[in-house]
Amino acid sequence: MVDRTDRAKNGYDASGHVSIVSASQESLRQAAQVIQDGGVVVMPTETVYGLACDAMNDSAVARVFDIKGRPSDNPLIVHVAAFETLKSLAIEIPEEARELAMRFWPGPLTMVLKKRESVPYRTTGGLDSVAVRMPNHPVALELVRLADRPIAAPSANLFSQLSPTRAQDVDPEIVARVPLVLDGGPCDVGLESTVLDLSAEEPQVLRPGGIGRADIEAVLKRPLGIVPPPSVRKSPGLYRRHYAPRAMVRLVDTLRQGEPGLTFGQAGPGQVHMPLDARAYAANLYSALKRLDEEGHAEIAVELPPEGIDWEAVVDRLKKASS
Ligand code: TXA
Ligand code: MG
Repeated sequence: MVDRTDRAKNGYDASGHVSIVSASQESLRQAAQVIQDGGVVVMPTETVYGLACDAMNDSAVARVFDIKGRPSDNPLIVHVAAFETLKSLAIEIPEEARELAMRFWPGPLTMVLKKRESVPYRTTGGLDSVAVRMPNHPVALELVRLADRPIAAPSANLFSQLSPTRAQDVDPEIVARVPLVLDGGPCDVGLESTVLDLSAEEPQVLRPGGIGRADIEAVLKRPLGIVPPPSVRKSPGLYRRHYAPRAMVRLVDTLRQGEPGLTFGQAGPGQVHMPLDARAYAANLYSALKRLDEEGHAEIAVELPPEGIDWEAVVDRLKKASS
């Protein structure tokens, strides 16, 4: 927990002023100033809320790792507001990156490219590649523009916990350590971006997410490689237990009566009804798990979604939450 002194140091006034504010021109201007000064704020994106700082500022990035409790070899995603900014981050911009950006940016597709020397290794977790995306959220885009620099932002959760999809879901420990949480409403997509590696010969999905594999393949006109095993150094973010609530998650075919969890059927007490549409399911998943977590259940049972490529990202998160 964070005491008064720490709060004061981190921009709280002595009265315990709450740092969650709705995004407005004024709060955006303040947030941009914090970023320019090397500080950290929470910003909304269309996927999940992010812990945002100047991507090129080594000590600001170090602070993000510290606040999250994240291992230093797990790299951050860099957010831009214009495709042209890629030139200042990557040494090579393959034609396929351009085509994908034309089709999916702004949006939940992160592309991994060979990094320029100017991008700190702190940001890329020691890798020679950098992950970049253009978020499809007016607040995030405006913050990048006002700060006038690329913004590094991992999801605004403590390491291995659930990503917040609403400002009120940001962990109080994180809220206490940033001067500002910009509230931009609930995230439309609700699951993190798809991470696509374009730095090697074969494009590869390192993390399924907001943009489906089939949609990417349709643009590239070639099949994508399969996700490598978690042992592979290339994808340090692929830890086993991840995206997890505090309760144990168990995957089941059908919820038993009275069993706390997520169901496609009618929900009783301690249960949440989930939509049979993959997009709508994704948009609600983290807040549903969060809600059950807050009810204090030791275990949350989740009905397995139907088979199908549309569900790849949801099933990926459910498996990680349950491992
Ligand atoms: O939707 C999102 O991507 C959200 C919002 C805030 O933009 N961000 C997010 O960041 O989910 P984070 O840090 O929680 O996840 C970033 C993922 C990790 O799995 C990380 O390993 C991977 O991206 N990644 C980042 N840079 C990489 C690189 N150079 N090579 C391979 N994987 C990389
Ligand atoms: Mg994350």
